[in-house]
Amino acid sequence: MKLSPRLAAVAELVPCGARVADIGCDHGYLSLHLIASGRAEGCIASDIREGPLSSARANVTAAGQSGRISLRLADGLAAISPEEVTCICIAGMGGDTMREILTAAPWATRGGHALVLQPQSHADTLRCYLSGLGFSIREERIVEDRGHLYCAFRAEWDGKGDSSPLCAYVSPALLSLPREVRNPYLAHLIRGLSRRLAGLSAQGADTTALENTIQALREVSEP
Ligand SMILES: C[S@@+](CC[C@H](N)C(=O)[O-])C[C@H]1O[C@@H](n2cnc3c(N)ncnc32)[C@H](O)[C@@H]1O
Repeated sequence: MKLSPRLAAVAELVPCGARVADIGCDHGYLSLHLIASGRAEGCIASDIREGPLSSARANVTAAGQSGRISLRLADGLAAISPEEVTCICIAGMGGDTMREILTAAPWATRGGHALVLQPQSHADTLRCYLSGLGFSIREERIVEDRGHLYCAFRAEWDGKGDSSPLCAYVSPALLSLPREVRNPYLAHLIRGLSRRLAGLSAQGADTTALENTIQALREVSEP
């Protein structure tokens, strides 16, 4: 099975031999790929809605992987116990929803589990939340898929987190990517923040902090 570039980037961030909670599994493609490629030992594919879970169940059964992929209908991590998994993957949702899912299961952020996350939006909210809990981003990917740029990363607890001024937007792991990979993403961030700046300026708000952030992002994109 060929994964989309976005999901392939997520799969590459999963530690080899992991037991994975694939939250919001939808069709189940990520779990199926992780098992078929030998990257994961086992997966729990979970979704909050019966429709996507039925589709995952049909795909898992057709692939003959019911023994390695368990399917659960649940909100976030509600149907998973900490000892069942070593890695939590959440892809294709907003960063604010991911934060809610992690907050509702405090065991998930106590440090025993790798977090592989691919936020579709509000990545800044998620990055700040993880830093505040003492997670650092160990590896990050930027990927273009059907005309959109996505970030995906693996965060692990080290008790420190990232307290750099730009930690809401970029990780050291992202900045260590080749310039041709990271700069289009930095340009995308700068465009988004510049739109926000224009809106705030029009309202007469104090934009000093935002201007400084945009300038700092420009500086890290320079050769
Ligand atoms: C856009 S799909 C992403 C599917 C897949 N993870 C991917 O990245 O291609 C989002 C999926 O997350 C599920 N979902 C949304 N909120 C959820 C929650 N709180 N707990 C579990 N699943 C959720 C939706 O039902 C949907 O199937």
